[in-house]
Amino acid sequence: MSGPSIEPSGGGVGAFVNGVDLNEGLSANAVSTMREALGEYGVLFLREQTITPEKHVAFAELFSKIDINRFFTPVADYPMIAEVRKEPDQKKNIGGGWHTDHSYDLDPAMGSILLARETPPKGGDTIFANMYSAYDTLSEGLKDSLSRLRGVHSSRHVFGVDAPRFKDKDNDVGSRLRNPEDATQDSIHPMVIRHPISGRKALYVNPGFTIGVDGWAEKESKALLDMLYEHAKQPEHAYRFQWAPGSIAFWDNRATWHYAVNDYHGARRLMHRITLGGEALAA
Ligand SMILES: [Fe+2]
Repeated sequence: MSGPSIEPSGGGVGAFVNGVDLNEGLSANAVSTMREALGEYGVLFLREQTITPEKHVAFAELFSKIDINRFFTPVADYPMIAEVRKEPDQKKNIGGGWHTDHSYDLDPAMGSILLARETPPKGGDTIFANMYSAYDTLSEGLKDSLSRLRGVHSSRHVFGVDAPRFKDKDNDVGSRLRNPEDATQDSIHPMVIRHPISGRKALYVNPGFTIGVDGWAEKESKALLDMLYEHAKQPEHAYRFQWAPGSIAFWDNRATWHYAVNDYHGARRLMHRITLGGEALAA
């Protein structure tokens, strides 16, 4: 193959990578083209990449060290690969709300490589949103105010022992997660970060894990964050990806949000996820 060509999705975020076969491996040139495209577009989509778990791991390690998610159940015999599964009789899905992964960590994961193994006959899409354009389309006055603010992020209310998924009778996600006693992470990051690959500014708060503005009262934080979330959720910033077995989405957590649509009850959806290690984020 001649190497990757990058085709923008046509929506608010993301690009398709054409002309690669992960069964053949990637040249150093292809890796650098994809890394730059990831920084620019926020998420890369690949089609028809039916690869072994070993090749999934090898692909991930071309970009970063692997960050094993402590809350997800691993794929049997592959501790570095997390299983994202919903069975036909299960109601709730994993990731069914706007969020970005691992923002509760001091060094948040740079991204994830999600590979579809089994997809429902219809539905089960993932929507991505662009945090560069969410930032760029704010007023200059608000951008200036945000430049001095920091967001507080936590894993406790999502993965901890008191999280609703472990308490509510109708929430069946808890059985697919583990180690709730380890959900003790809190972190503080600038609300606007300088992206480590692209150097561009991105809005770095998310509805899943951001619990407040550092130094602000809960009511004050909620008002500002709700306004930013309404802004960032607009369809102009989004792209909806439809999966098939062998599809890959490789997203950058620092530039995007994602939302797993839960509209395929009665069917199985099975994905393999590898999380890539990141770094401390700066304004
Ligand atoms: Fe996620």
